[in-house]
Amino acid sequence: MRVDFNVPLNETFQVTDDTRISSAVSTIQKILNDGGSVVLMSHLGRPKGGPEAKYSLKHILPALQSYFPDQKIMFADDCISDDAFEQSSQLKSGEILLLENLRFYAEEEKGNPEFAKKLSRHGNIYINDAFGTAHREHASTATIAKYFDTEHKGFGYLMAAEVENATKLLHGAEKPVTAIVGGAKVSDKIQLLERLIDSMDNILIGGGMAYTFLSALGGKIGNSLFEPDYVELALKILDKAKNNNTAIYLPTDNIAADKFAPDALSQVVDSYHIPDGWMGLDIGPKTIEAFSAIIKSSKTILWNGPMGVFEFDKFATGTFSVARALAEATDAGAFSLIGGGDSASAINKSGLEDRVSFVSTGGGAMLEFLEGKELPGIKAITT
Ligand code: 3PG
Ligand code: MG
Repeated sequence: MRVDFNVPLNETFQVTDDTRISSAVSTIQKILNDGGSVVLMSHLGRPKGGPEAKYSLKHILPALQSYFPDQKIMFADDCISDDAFEQSSQLKSGEILLLENLRFYAEEEKGNPEFAKKLSRHGNIYINDAFGTAHREHASTATIAKYFDTEHKGFGYLMAAEVENATKLLHGAEKPVTAIVGGAKVSDKIQLLERLIDSMDNILIGGGMAYTFLSALGGKIGNSLFEPDYVELALKILDKAKNNNTAIYLPTDNIAADKFAPDALSQVVDSYHIPDGWMGLDIGPKTIEAFSAIIKSSKTILWNGPMGVFEFDKFATGTFSVARALAEATDAGAFSLIGGGDSASAINKSGLEDRVSFVSTGGGAMLEFLEGKELPGIKAITT
């Protein structure tokens, strides 16, 4: 079973957010309940193609073990060694074996067929539940599927839920449908915006990416984030939205800082008149009010990307206010999907993760799915 246990660790190698681990438990449990044994494989971080102690999957064992109190999880310290195959072949019904980081072999990211074939020998059935890595065409996410016939491969519950929820948002969602799009760079979100214009009634834009839009419209943005090469595209998107009857909302006020630091001086500014030497690091109170009202009157909501630098408490109000509006909308019956990555960290940090409909475990993968791209990890199973 391919899982995405690429989770954040602190300096002492403890898991600081185990969402990707807890999300795989139901599929593992299902296999065990049906009398199977499970060989888990994952990557962790971006090692350079050889073993690196800090990227050992050993670090995540205690977090994984906590979900299986009655079953000692075994560990193989190399994913394709003779010992590893000995361990997987000895597994009895109900037992779990975790393999060491797949990316300790450069063959993993290259999608190498011999490496994939070796991995395939660990099991009779291949399950992919690694939605977070589904946008990678790697040996364990894509190539390996070739070595199993259609009766012996499939998706896990997490993968199925991710696809189902994202599809629900894009097709036939209950109106009004609103997307909140943020994050630092407009260049990362162009394709997403283009695609969303076709299916959304409202698009709320915040975060660093908003300033390129504001500048394109003639605003003075001071030292705020700015991507001059994307001014044309920003204007094109606004134009396309107008022709599609999709309302795009930009901030009307911001919290500006005198430097990029948690202890920066700050002031509320008009979005189109940010003073020289100051940079917008959050949306302002009027914008929060306007965005919250739209969110709360929506029936379907997507959130992808923070509204400001929420890592700094002083500039987190916009992001957490949007999280609160999403929770309230969901309480009132709306369907809300949180795209992975920074938005997932933000909703977790706000403590409201249980009051939204679905939090994706995939940052890049969810983004590409929403952009309409075919994900190699999905394609490998379905074709
Ligand atoms: C992620 O967290 O983005 C996935 O686990 C994939 O990892 P990668 O971006 O290093 O391929
Ligand atoms: Mg990534």
